[in-house]
Amino acid sequence: MSKEQTVDYGPLAGLIGEWQGERGVDIAPEPDGKERNPYYETMVFEAAGDVDNAETQLLAVIRYQQKVFRKANGEQFHDQIGYLTWDKATDVISHSFVIPRGVAVVAGGKACAEQGGSITIKLKAADGDKDWGISQSPFMRDNARSVSFTQTIELAGDKLFYEEHTQLEIYGREFDHADKSQLTRVV
Ligand code: HEM
Repeated sequence: MSKEQTVDYGPLAGLIGEWQGERGVDIAPEPDGKERNPYYETMVFEAAGDVDNAETQLLAVIRYQQKVFRKANGEQFHDQIGYLTWDKATDVISHSFVIPRGVAVVAGGKACAEQGGSITIKLKAADGDKDWGISQSPFMRDNARSVSFTQTIELAGDKLFYEEHTQLEIYGREFDHADKSQLTRVV
């Protein structure tokens, strides 16, 4: 890792900073149906320099932490730590992250520049996929398996929007665990 400030972060550069969102909506599984949780959140993205892999691949790295709070009671109910990387040679973006349930995701995809200067990043991963996978504890595999994960991130200046869907196998059925939110840059 080196050169935090001079690395070319490509389509990820606009993420660096601190963001707040007040308009999140989470749809989460319940044994007898689902719950809808309006939420607020903070996301902090930091320039983390670059890294080379096998003396071949050079990745620009952004590190982040996301903290999500339930509007109903102000309590934090989701925590996520991860990295976004950009490979200038192939334009591939990876999003590797962990959540404190014993689940780790390595999603991959690309960024697309939109008219007007905004950027859309689409990422996906699936349990068992040989390219972009999901790893989870035996308990989660057997009781609340993350089958797949898709995420769209839209970055337009000081506005950040994301929508993500984690397909779960839980309580004997498939469940579309969905989260979407819009954030504004504060730093
Ligand atoms: C803003 C983002 C997210 C929020 C607010 C959120 C919130 C929740 C909530 C409220 C539950 C129901 C269980 C509980 O009350 O603890 C849940 C379950 C779960 N979430 Fe998330 N989640 C988010 C993102 C994710 C992501 C990205 C993944 C994995 C890729 C994930 C994986 C799971 C799994 C496996 C469960 C099942 C465990 C259970 O219901 O007991 N979640 N989440």
